[in-house]
Amino acid sequence: MTHAPTRFPDGFLWGAATAAHQIEGNNTNSDWWQKEHSGTSHVQEPSLDACDSYHRWPEDMDLLAELGFTDYRFSIEWARIEPAPGHFSRAELAHYRRMVDGAIERGLRPMVTLHHFTVPRWFEERGGWTAEGAVDLFTRYVEATAPVIADGVPYVCTINEPNMIAVMAGAAKAGDIGFPPAGLPTPDEETTRVIIDAHHAAVKAVKGINSAINVGWTVANQVYQALPGAEEVTAAYRHPREDVFIEAARGDDWIGVQSYTRTRIGADGPIPAPEDAERTLTAWEYYPAAVGHALRHTAEVVGDVPLVVTENGIATDDDSRRVAYLTGALREVASALEDGIDIRGYLTWSALDNYEWGSFRPTFGLIAVDPVTFARTAKPSAVWLGAMGRTQELPGAGS
Ligand code: BGC
Repeated sequence: MTHAPTRFPDGFLWGAATAAHQIEGNNTNSDWWQKEHSGTSHVQEPSLDACDSYHRWPEDMDLLAELGFTDYRFSIEWARIEPAPGHFSRAELAHYRRMVDGAIERGLRPMVTLHHFTVPRWFEERGGWTAEGAVDLFTRYVEATAPVIADGVPYVCTINEPNMIAVMAGAAKAGDIGFPPAGLPTPDEETTRVIIDAHHAAVKAVKGINSAINVGWTVANQVYQALPGAEEVTAAYRHPREDVFIEAARGDDWIGVQSYTRTRIGADGPIPAPEDAERTLTAWEYYPAAVGHALRHTAEVVGDVPLVVTENGIATDDDSRRVAYLTGALREVASALEDGIDIRGYLTWSALDNYEWGSFRPTFGLIAVDPVTFARTAKPSAVWLGAMGRTQELPGAGS
């Protein structure tokens, strides 16, 4: 089959994403740091200095801009901004404002995530999301981020992967059961309700800061595929893990679609990928078509809300597999666009090889990071993907 070149729409966001805890290093006041050093969790190694992006963000942004990207999604760290309840650090707010200004100066539009999995230790210690007053505390933090986001930030994500937060809470309540061989643990219903409330409150708070900011959240999409006869089982399995969070985005300015692989569902629930399936370094099935399914499903559930691919990528040591994966994925994005789906951008995961929640081993990055010197080296996939930011075109190719 051959593919004609595809032009992405004018203004299409073209970028890469990161999250503070995964790249900054020494995020010592967060619940995750605590978990990494508690000796009781499933964590294989601690994040420690990570990529030292807390200090080296200018290098990260220089590289992304030089490569041709036009957008950079990064998160700001609640645990740094509010180190103790009600005490907001002017210095940390200024740090993140410098990042926003630094992005703009380099021609990168900043997309700022306010919450990407980590919370301050004190928030976790008082009971986390389901403790009394959690939504108000989160909203107070969001209001306090005004100096960072008020000017020049076109896109704000309130909460990253709320469905994974609910799933992890569900697994923890069930006795830290970990993840099953296929599918996800049952999400905790109370956490689901609270996180949705927190999102709606945060949207209002961000609009109060600057009504021109496009606000949304980013949902993890597992691309549940029903085997013949298992359509109803699949819909019932998917709803609490995904659709309820997509539905909560109705009325938002945009919704983020994040996908990596698929999960097939039979009459008795999720089934593992076939033995001979190619697997990535996270042990997920290599399935570049995932993003197309995720976009179409999200559009169907959310209705008239623009979509942005806010994460999509592959953990691999073999960068040529990354190019192959992203090529397949981008063809899916192009075909969804051709079918009239309103997609505003594509941000790959991830800009850097980073701390993958427990281990540095699964390398998702376009850019390699030396763990000792922190030297950054752009991989061929970075050059290839970045160039499309300049041309706004996915080259046609045989396959
Ligand atoms: C998260 C990232 C994570 C990536 C790969 C998403 O679940 O938002 O933080 O590194 O997927 O696992």
